[in-house]
Amino acid sequence: MTTTYPPEPFRIKVTEPIRLIPREEREAALKEAGYNLFSLKAEDIFIDLLTDSGTGAMSSEQWAAIMRGDESYAGARSFYRLKAAVDDIFGFKYFVPAHQGRAAENILAACLVKPGNYIPSNMHFDTTDANIRARGGRPTNLVIDEAFDPANPHPFKGNMDIAKLKAFIEKVGVANIPFGMMTVTNNAGGGQPVSMENLKAVAAVYRESKIPFFIDAARYAENCFFIKQREPGYESKSVKNIAHEMFALADGMTMSAKKDAIVNIGGLLCLNDEVLFGQVKNELILREGFPTYGGLAGRDLDAMAVGLYEGLDENYLFYRLGQTAYLAARLNETGIPTIQPAGGHAVYIDARAVLPRIPQNEFPAQALCVELYREGAIRGVEIGSVMFAYPDPDSGKMIYPKLELLRLAIPRRMYTQSHMDYVADCAAKIKSRADKVRGYKFTYAPELLRHFTARFEPL
Ligand code: F0G
Repeated sequence: MTTTYPPEPFRIKVTEPIRLIPREEREAALKEAGYNLFSLKAEDIFIDLLTDSGTGAMSSEQWAAIMRGDESYAGARSFYRLKAAVDDIFGFKYFVPAHQGRAAENILAACLVKPGNYIPSNMHFDTTDANIRARGGRPTNLVIDEAFDPANPHPFKGNMDIAKLKAFIEKVGVANIPFGMMTVTNNAGGGQPVSMENLKAVAAVYRESKIPFFIDAARYAENCFFIKQREPGYESKSVKNIAHEMFALADGMTMSAKKDAIVNIGGLLCLNDEVLFGQVKNELILREGFPTYGGLAGRDLDAMAVGLYEGLDENYLFYRLGQTAYLAARLNETGIPTIQPAGGHAVYIDARAVLPRIPQNEFPAQALCVELYREGAIRGVEIGSVMFAYPDPDSGKMIYPKLELLRLAIPRRMYTQSHMDYVADCAAKIKSRADKVRGYKFTYAPELLRHFTARFEPL
């Protein structure tokens, strides 16, 4: 089945050159980087699909808004323009800006998480997970089992398993759960959406137990568009109305605005509880800045105020999700399996299916990541054993993740169809010489978050 590429609902006014460096230079760059693509220079990359976070192209309206930025320390006009957008779209009583998503998570965790607490979610993103752990808490993932089956075409693979959630609350006790979460879309599980039906069921469980409910809204607009496309009863509702319905179910949200608000920097923390808002402001002043700027410049607040609406535009979202589905379909046509269905912001290649001869302890997803750079100076990110394998604290035996994935995250409004075709063509070339691709071993690996700074050697 071929997915057609939706024409971009914008034209290009400003360009930024990219250059494909020769093969020998790519080889030298890889060697120097210790075969870790985080250590490459951006100028040595042709197509950068490392992340969709803060990497998107701002619009002419956003750049114009940048010039309107009011840099007053307190009570800036920029803050009130952002407040109008945030109130209109999300509808919570209170909010503060923060410099990015993890800063909002840090403040929420600082206010609510006590050692030994549990925070359930469908799946926490790794910064949320780490912010909860940093306060002595225990993040718990209760996504449906279908999420772990790459070929399963379930339309809402980000859904929470409601039975697991109820059993979990019963087991650890309401008193040990200061709040519960849901990540929309579920980035750690393949950029998969959550249905409104599931969100309502989760909200009901939390409400019955009097557990405050926070949404990780980084990619909420993409999630709402999936609901419009896939969930019966939502076909003719606007994405903005779907968003209203979604956030009315929750007591608050954290958001990395670097995703669906299409800005290069920024975040939000919204909530309804007045007492908690007081604590949040104090934490914010300590760590980020005064509550009307929260670690950002006035111009950043203005860019976000405009970007929030652009991220909800349905012509844009149709193109956005269509572009991701197109890349997945092109890869699948050449026999490269990806998590089904395609996610909102990224395509996740099943690396073990492409490189079946490389065992997990030789990092097949890392090998594929390196190979894609070698082939076409394309940068993706490994989401497999480099990121997640760890020794069992009791037996010392290595525990490997269920999936070995290469994520190709697509920055917003940045690359065109020919760039996507180029990526698929390069991946197809790797597939045809897969039996010659070798695995890797560490030459350096720190204990925590090792994927960022590890170094490797080919086997
Ligand atoms: N929540 C989700 C679902 C995310 O995907 C991210 C970031 C964050 C929170 C943290 O936001 O980066 O602004 O501090 N995801 C990026 C990625 C880094 O590449 O997926 P941040």
